Amino acid sequence: MIKLEGVRKRFKNGNIEVPVLRGLDLTIADGELVALMGASGSGKSTLLHILGGVDRVTEGNYFFDDIEVSKLSNSKVEDFRRKNAGFIFQQYALMEEYTVYENIALPLTIKGMPRKEIKKKVNEVMESLGLKELADKKPRKLSGGEQQRTAIARAIVSDKKLILADEPTGALDSENGENIMELLVKIHESSDKTIIVVTHDEKIAGYCDRIIRIKDGKICA
Ligand SMILES: Nc1ncnc2c1ncn2[C@@H]1O[C@H](COP(=O)(O)OP(=O)(O)OP(=O)(O)O)[C@@H](O)[C@H]1O
Ligand SMILES: [Mg+2]
Repeated sequence: MIKLEGVRKRFKNGNIEVPVLRGLDLTIADGELVALMGASGSGKSTLLHILGGVDRVTEGNYFFDDIEVSKLSNSKVEDFRRKNAGFIFQQYALMEEYTVYENIALPLTIKGMPRKEIKKKVNEVMESLGLKELADKKPRKLSGGEQQRTAIARAIVSDKKLILADEPTGALDSENGENIMELLVKIHESSDKTIIVVTHDEKIAGYCDRIIRIKDGKICA
């Protein structure tokens, strides 16, 4: 379970501290698929970064299960991120020189998993996401939707509990965007992962169980 209590985030801009999150409370249960919406600059990406352990709260508490992430040292937060959080970005963020297979395998390679085990896992994920035929292709040979499917495969291959998608359909046309959401729904239904999807699109948000809206640095119903 995710629980944020009174979370504040300020960014230093020269001598001035700019508040972005201003006392934000939020609970997300295990296995929820939620959309996160709000105006540009309202702090959606900032919140995802905090949840995934790539940024720290300025004040307040962040609990992930029984871990108080807001109290961990920077290096322990990095461990937390590696173990628990998979990110999906609008621009896919794939390694251009790697094939689809190698991109998906990357988190497992970094973990030092034996090659045979990696092969089994990557093949399973490619199978379930319809990527098998593309295994040996480089990202630039793929369509946007195929690249995003590869990025999703990379995010889910290593059994992370939390999937954080920052406008995953933002660079796709509506049909491909809807295909990506159908895929996330399928992953949601077949796993116990918690999935958070940032979007500006109400139709995309409609695929989720719940919509969380952020305004003035807080959650509004
Ligand atoms: N590293 C940073 N340093 C300084 N200011 C930052 C930093 N990251 C974000 N901000 C500021 O925090 C505010 C919230 O940014 P954030 O990227 O979280 O918004 P967002 O809701 O994701 O917007 P968008 O919908 O445009 O992606 C913005 O005013 C932004 O300029
Ligand atoms: Mg953003």
